[in-house]
Amino acid sequence: MQAMVGGIRMHWREAGHGPRTVVFVHGFPFDGSLWDDQLERLPRRWRLAAPDLRGFGRSQMGLVDGPLTMERFADDLALWLDHLGIERATLCGLSMGGYVAFAFWRRHRERVAALVLCSTRAGADSAEAREGRRAMAELVRRAGAGAVADVMIPKLLAPGTPQARPGIEDRLRRIIEAQPVESIARATEGMALREDSTALLPTIDVPVLVVAGTEDGVAPLVEAERMRDAIPEARLVEISGAGHLPNMEQPGAFDTALTHFLEAIE
Ligand code: MLT
Repeated sequence: MQAMVGGIRMHWREAGHGPRTVVFVHGFPFDGSLWDDQLERLPRRWRLAAPDLRGFGRSQMGLVDGPLTMERFADDLALWLDHLGIERATLCGLSMGGYVAFAFWRRHRERVAALVLCSTRAGADSAEAREGRRAMAELVRRAGAGAVADVMIPKLLAPGTPQARPGIEDRLRRIIEAQPVESIARATEGMALREDSTALLPTIDVPVLVVAGTEDGVAPLVEAERMRDAIPEARLVEISGAGHLPNMEQPGAFDTALTHFLEAIE
């Protein structure tokens, strides 16, 4: 589905109906199709919506100068919820989607019914991580999205995933290579600029599910434990045999955890 929202064409996938809406926010450098398994398999009694963030998938970049910040993505989501007539939603953000969820909490918390923080971290980038971002932005502008796929895919999955889920690497590569170079570069720059959300954690007074793959090398389990410990109403589910993308690597376990969480807060 698509609509003009805040001056850009926003595109999203949707399934199910019901008073409760779950908004799935994708990670970097993907689009809403990261959540195809969930939209296909989760119970239909919830409204499930997976937008393509600005510049990704079939959503337009618009007239943005400079980095794509987490705040901009969060404000886009608020406008899009207005368009859909949705007052409050459960936000489920994976990795960069989690950074967007923190920015959304900072700016639009009255619209958050609950949060799912998957494969993400509350802290800002270290100086070393920022240097890595600079190199990544330079790489994609020089060598294209395929070079980003080459660097990222081996880091994203648990060692056993490619055998357990044949085709998953090709699927990830297809999604990454479909993203515009400038969107990848500017979202990289936006992540480097993101605020530290650690001090925000104790203020999150809605139910929170933290999800972590036990073999995630990008956002290690200890980050998830820190979020669980600092957020008043958080529980942590560890997904074994998953790396950074538990919803794709172990969709059965991920969907069960999410379903139990959503049922418990109904
Ligand atoms: C993601 O999966 O969204 C990115 O790996 C997040 C990051 O680079 O910090």
